[in-house]
Amino acid sequence: MQRAAIVFLAGVGCSSPAGVIDAAPPDQAAAPDAAQAASFSFVVVGCNRVEKADITTNNPSTANLAELDRTFAEIAALSPPPKFLFFAGDMVYGYKDAATLQPELAAWLAHYDASPLAAAGVELVPVPGNHEMQTKQNGLKYAYPEAEATWVAVMGSRIRGSNGPAAGGADQLQTDQARLDYSFDFSGTHFVVLDTDPVGADGSVPTTWVTADVSAARASGAAHIFAISHKPAYPSPLSAEGGFTSPAVRDALWTALEQNHAEAMLSAHNHLWYKTRPASTWQIVAGNGGSLLESTVPAADAFYGFTLVEVGASVTVKSFGRDVPSAGYLAPATPAKYPTTLRDTTDITWH
Ligand SMILES: [Fe+2]
Repeated sequence: MQRAAIVFLAGVGCSSPAGVIDAAPPDQAAAPDAAQAASFSFVVVGCNRVEKADITTNNPSTANLAELDRTFAEIAALSPPPKFLFFAGDMVYGYKDAATLQPELAAWLAHYDASPLAAAGVELVPVPGNHEMQTKQNGLKYAYPEAEATWVAVMGSRIRGSNGPAAGGADQLQTDQARLDYSFDFSGTHFVVLDTDPVGADGSVPTTWVTADVSAARASGAAHIFAISHKPAYPSPLSAEGGFTSPAVRDALWTALEQNHAEAMLSAHNHLWYKTRPASTWQIVAGNGGSLLESTVPAADAFYGFTLVEVGASVTVKSFGRDVPSAGYLAPATPAKYPTTLRDTTDITWH
């Protein structure tokens, strides 16, 4: 199959050239940078669910399928293919009860399994968001046990670990988080998957467990450490969605990540793309998956897409994006009219 041409433009605001993809996803083999040294890569994207008013019976997944399918196709065509797709929450609307959540998640998973991404062998690692874990009752949003059970039941075959904390313990958890917070290793890299809305502790993570987990990973010689969550510890100042509930929990988590040389925490929840470096560990917000973008995002930064992390001797984060369709966030976005381009490249190698 002939690959579509890639046109590289002079970079603006990036440490490497901005690439414009005419009709196909980015060809990493053509990029003269860290891709050649990368031993593997992974993708993070979150927040693709539609607005409540846009839920229809024709789309039981409640996902923004136009943007999701663009993202799936473009990730599938990356060369070499990434090892994982971490879908960082708010993949469906949820926010009600298990009877609503279960078919939405099942429809989403069926859509993924029918996509070229599944056929390409990219492994889906779903991460729960507040729309999956919480209900919304009388203006209050809170996580409920049936949502956790539904998540584990539907996503069970994609959950890559079960070493998370049990109920009780030092983190005083109300429910068993063994398959909602967990860690796993791949090719010398340690991944920590975090549920940021456990029952009884919305907007937080079990910091005692995380600290012990990443400390053990560092002690055992992990080459790299990444945390993946839905809510960010450090949200974008432009976001109305925010991040953690408690600054003390945020600080305890960040101390654990910093002290154990985690390169980054990659999150979503804020409907935009954002990066910040509070100290040494980076916070990346990849919440530009297809949900309605936050109204505060400047037009120049309003794009949907996905974030690629290349892991090798160095670690590079690349944000790929396409402009939001002028006909609205759910409108079809053809590659010809809305090409996906490289919007940001950041070297996050631990120093
Ligand atoms: Fe969210």
